[in-house]
Amino acid sequence: MTIQAKYKLKGSLRISGDKSISHRSIIIAAMSIGETKIYNLLESKDILSTVSIIRKLGVKVKKKKSCWIVNGVGTGGFKQPSQVLDAGNSGTTSRLIFGAVSTNPILCTFTGDHSLSSRPMKRVTDFLQDIGAIVKLTKRNYLPLSIDGNINSLPLKHVITKPSAQIKSSIMLAALNISGQTTIVENQATRDHTEILFKYLGINFKKEKYKNGKTKLKIFGPAEIKAKNIYVASDPSSAAFFTVAALITPGSNIEIKDVCLNKTRIAYIEILKKMGGKITIKKNGKISGETVGNIKVSYSKLKPIVIPKKKAPYLIDEYPILAIAASQAKGTTVMKGLAELRVKESDRLRSIHENLLNSGISTIIVKDDLIIKGSINKIAGGNKINSFHDHRIAMSFSILNLISEKPLKINNLRCIDISYPKFNEDLKSILINA
Ligand code: S3P
Repeated sequence: MTIQAKYKLKGSLRISGDKSISHRSIIIAAMSIGETKIYNLLESKDILSTVSIIRKLGVKVKKKKSCWIVNGVGTGGFKQPSQVLDAGNSGTTSRLIFGAVSTNPILCTFTGDHSLSSRPMKRVTDFLQDIGAIVKLTKRNYLPLSIDGNINSLPLKHVITKPSAQIKSSIMLAALNISGQTTIVENQATRDHTEILFKYLGINFKKEKYKNGKTKLKIFGPAEIKAKNIYVASDPSSAAFFTVAALITPGSNIEIKDVCLNKTRIAYIEILKKMGGKITIKKNGKISGETVGNIKVSYSKLKPIVIPKKKAPYLIDEYPILAIAASQAKGTTVMKGLAELRVKESDRLRSIHENLLNSGISTIIVKDDLIIKGSINKIAGGNKINSFHDHRIAMSFSILNLISEKPLKINNLRCIDISYPKFNEDLKSILINA
């Protein structure tokens, strides 16, 4: 459903559970011993892909009214699946589960949808091959692929040069079933939800952070994880859509409650504040190891900004909605070093650029940089928007729609169900007539 213009945003809301933490909760609960109750699990298509694969690996996962219950089988207890494992649209599902199964004595074949089948997988499987798994990839990089797991995998030192929490987490999950010390060096720190859950569950590991931004993880396996209930904090990347919506829609004033305030996930708030956004944060404490708190936002006149390449890993999922904010900031915003955006659910550099242009907003791509010339004007609207079947593109342009004179014609809005099925319901709950 497309929300028509002529509204402002008022009131408070609580949004669904975080996507990254939800994936990790299901997978790590499956590798624990005993029963884990998971509360506030995100019930989106991507998470259901993870649940479906975990079930095919012989783990009982039940949905109850207030929580999900996972009966863990330990780090080496996955069963030989009798079917192909379909990760749907989800990069996190596939890449994290590759690691988890690679140290089990089973042969798994993974597939995915059209988008996932064109996303690079070798970046993860190279590391799993080093420790002893036998991996066969289509065209040496893509799904469908098979992993023949090795129960005697080697405890090695891995250096990750491409900042990616998915690569790191995949090796971390493999390390849980490896005897000895696995070492992972990241040249640039990435989101740390896996480490936070490891700590919360009492898993034996150490993390060192260096001044130059590098991190070193030492995991001492094999792990025997005692099941412990998990509460999933609300998704800060989903909160970003409403944060920008309130900033660009005159008369708006909202509060988003109990959002995950993990530092590796809220760099967008710092960027929007630098752009002149009136945003305040109040911390409420910790749940299952993650800091949570409230975000208050009101309508603001935004200024353009230059975002350096080194910020990219901490803003990677927020660039589409930050581009919408930039379109409403008078002057030239430059977002540098966005190469990784080309291998997300769509080529997001192209998806953002083409849809902004079609909406009458001047933008160019120079190498891997996105340059947007913003102005504080109502958008004429009425034009087509191609979501490219990408949930974050569909949601970002649904937000631009709020300030469009005529509705934007966004195709395939249903792809929003990938990460945020309640997006429209939540947006409507804070919209009132202007
Ligand atoms: C994720 C990591 C990021 C992010 C994705 C979720 C995760 O991908 O874009 O939406 O849960 O680990 P990369 O690690 O490939 O950058």
